[in-house]
Amino acid sequence: MNLKIAVLSGDGIGPEVTLQAKKVLQAIAFVHQHEFIFEDALIGAIAIEKTGKPLPEQTLNLCKNTDSILFGAIGDPKYDSDPTSKIRPEQGLLQLRKELGLFANIRPIKAYPKLINSSPVKKEVIEGTDFVVFRELNGGMYFGKKTTNDEGTYASDLCEYNEDEIVKISHLAFKAAQTRRKKVTLVDKANVLETSRLWRKVVTKIAQEYPDVTLECMYVDNASMQIIVNPRQFDILLTDNLFGDILSDEASVISGSIGLMSSASLGEKYSLFEPIHGCYTEAKGKNIANPIASILSVALLLEHFGLDVESKKVIAAVEKAIVNNVITVDLKVDSQFGTNEVGDFISNYILNEGDLYFK
Ligand code: IPM
Ligand code: MN
Repeated sequence: MNLKIAVLSGDGIGPEVTLQAKKVLQAIAFVHQHEFIFEDALIGAIAIEKTGKPLPEQTLNLCKNTDSILFGAIGDPKYDSDPTSKIRPEQGLLQLRKELGLFANIRPIKAYPKLINSSPVKKEVIEGTDFVVFRELNGGMYFGKKTTNDEGTYASDLCEYNEDEIVKISHLAFKAAQTRRKKVTLVDKANVLETSRLWRKVVTKIAQEYPDVTLECMYVDNASMQIIVNPRQFDILLTDNLFGDILSDEASVISGSIGLMSSASLGEKYSLFEPIHGCYTEAKGKNIANPIASILSVALLLEHFGLDVESKKVIAAVEKAIVNNVITVDLKVDSQFGTNEVGDFISNYILNEGDLYFK
């Protein structure tokens, strides 16, 4: 298969983890005779620095003319210390998601047996956890009207949803549930919010088209507790943009590190694959960042293009790295392995089909 992939590695640790993801894609291309062509483009703080804009037109055009996008990380503490700054790196990613219509963000959450003790949550609680967050990505409070008054004493962010936005992601969630344990949990705050009541109404109606799938509705405050006390109950967790952002970071503690968490952002036409973690500027250039989130995002990319064998191979190679303790310091305090070494191990494992490495 020929694929042209835009590489938007962004800020902080973005470039170094994305480099490992590229290595892994190159290894897959070599073993399976695919041709993956990479084209780099600017986004985020680095793009502001070089062009004045967090999402330069050139980057957007490239993304519209490629088969898929590999995204690294975005942000710079410089902007966090100036809350009045009108221009922020994050706008680049938000604008890209909107422009490309990437309405569904899919985030798998899993407990790895070998890392069971890396999580602060008890082993008995998290063992066997395997669920997927379906986060709506183009609406809600992220994109509603924003206002502040001139004195800087008032601010508002409007939370808005229309039926169509809810319908689109819900179908994806129910279809995914049909291939899994056939349960969708809609997470909302329908006891307080109008938008949540709309979600419940729309999703309950859609559920009738999927009689083999059970729909459960749960308030977000309760869900944030249930993720920690009984995570095995979830199969597909369907929710809005803001709740999905928060709950998926929370759920990452089950796996042991946010550095393991991958995601796919899908639209009708475009697709983007990104780790869920941020730019982690303190670690930049230190060769300590965990590249697995980025590498597992590659597995999601391959699966998206129907390359299931290749995708499974990437996941198997990641699991091999974990089982052999080739993991970064976020997972093992005294680890001898850095970002590069983990990337090398995984790509070499793929190149040698595992054989040479473990004889
Ligand atoms: C994420 C990130 C982004 C978000 C930021 C960087 C805008 O936290 O992908 O989860 O809030 O969606
Ligand atoms: Mn987030």
